[in-house]
Amino acid sequence: MVTASAPGKVYLFGEHAVVYGEPAVPCAIDRRARVTVERRADDHLRVHAEDLSLDGFTVEYGGTTGSDPDVDVSQSLVEAATGYVDAAVEQARDAAGAPDAGFDITIESEIPLGAGLGSSAAVTAAGIYAAAEELGADLSTDEVAERAYSAELAVQEGNASRADTFCSATGGAVRVEGDDCRSLDAPELPFVVGFDGGAGDTGALVSGVRELKNSYDFAADTVAAVGDLVRNGEDALAAGDLAELGELMDFNHGLLSALGVSSRSLDAMVWAARDAGALGAKLTGAGGGGCVVALDETEETETALRYLPGCEETFQAELATEGVRVE
Ligand code: PMV
Repeated sequence: MVTASAPGKVYLFGEHAVVYGEPAVPCAIDRRARVTVERRADDHLRVHAEDLSLDGFTVEYGGTTGSDPDVDVSQSLVEAATGYVDAAVEQARDAAGAPDAGFDITIESEIPLGAGLGSSAAVTAAGIYAAAEELGADLSTDEVAERAYSAELAVQEGNASRADTFCSATGGAVRVEGDDCRSLDAPELPFVVGFDGGAGDTGALVSGVRELKNSYDFAADTVAAVGDLVRNGEDALAAGDLAELGELMDFNHGLLSALGVSSRSLDAMVWAARDAGALGAKLTGAGGGGCVVALDETEETETALRYLPGCEETFQAELATEGVRVE
């Protein structure tokens, strides 16, 4: 039996624009998904998962061919999680040359699903690492990142950047531009996350931005402006200038709003954080609902968000320097 874990992430800068080849800077946070795998005698997958926003659930798959689960699964979030687990196991089987390996799998996640905190990438990276290890294949971090990206691409039908999976595999602050992924030096980043309890539809939001960008020059210019902003953000990160980072986060949120991916609840949380004295605040991930990230060295932002109607959960988070690991 092997347990592996991987961190979730926030986007300091650059979501959506990263889809069009602009750079982005996601940062791993110290909230993790843990995946425990145990080899079965047959080729079935039995998945049990617990998530912040869900009661426990169990699904058993018949065989290795991805046939329908033999338990009715009505919640779409559950279906989403099992899709990533399926793809992760496929990668581990391939890495170990064991196409018929079956597993009992338990997922425990401190990261809300589909809320912009990279839960699927964390589950995928931890699942690949744990299942490969259980089959005797010791994967490097880069191999986990590469395979996790392939798994996400398969589940998201070609719509994924490398940002989430690379960040989850390696930990820390990273820079992603197209296929080029690297780790960045970063100061301590006092993140505060606010979660509205909802989740945006990433596929629909990404398509919406694509349509806008194809229809209007202003939208194409906005995507390019996010790229410029990220390059400025990298300099601020290297200089450890938290005040400038906060200011740039505010600008980034404005540009994302212009692209139509914010929401009333995300805007309300962003403004509550700013009013409480945060250095800056923005939505993180695909948007439409889900989470905001603020930068604040005091307790004020977390308190303000806790009492804000429409904010379901708030927590402080630090940069997680460790990526995927065996527990
Ligand atoms: O909501 P998340 O954490 O899955 O992030 C989506 C980020 C996008 O840039 C909108 C899409 C992508 O694959 O990079």
